[in-house]
Amino acid sequence: VVWTDFERATIQNIFSKIDKDAVGHQALTRCLVVYPWTQRYFGKFGNLYNAAAISGNPNVAAHGSVVAHGLEKAVKNMDNIKAIFAELSVLHSEKLHVDPDNFKLLADCFTIVIAASLGATFTAEVQAALQKFMAVVVSALGKQYH
Ligand code: HEM
Repeated sequence: VVWTDFERATIQNIFSKIDKDAVGHQALTRCLVVYPWTQRYFGKFGNLYNAAAISGNPNVAAHGSVVAHGLEKAVKNMDNIKAIFAELSVLHSEKLHVDPDNFKLLADCFTIVIAASLGATFTAEVQAALQKFMAVVVSALGKQYH
């Protein structure tokens, strides 16, 4: 993957600005609410009965934060995302058996939450850079599947 200076700067800037714990929590909550089949992988998280239960579930908050910090690892290694996520790809496919279509869904939820948090500074160019970054993450996580 080739990154322009603008894309690099934009991704670094977004992740330095956002509250990663809050964004991760909101993105995972949104994913579990809007795409309820994604709940099946989180049986041990307890009550995911409705949107309020999901959003108030401390396991969702904690795991959202884990995922957001996982993304930060990719931000810090933008030239090496496939290698950085190789182990995580094996975990999600061989141990967790997560359907890889779901990576894109969660990635889109991150994009939505980040867009809402950036407001007017989320220009079309910023959106394009973020979506490219998320697409590379999704592809790296899916590597073990293809
Ligand atoms: C665990 C990242 C998408 C289900 C994890 C972990 C990370 C992570 C960093 C912790 C790994 C460890 O403990 O070593 C990501 C990223 C994603 C993503 C960056 C895409 C943006 C998904 C999706 C699902 C999922 C879409 C299911 C719909 C799980 C489950 C665990 C896990 C069930 C184990 C949770 C636990 O046992 O506490 N993920 N993940 N992940 N992920 Fe993902």
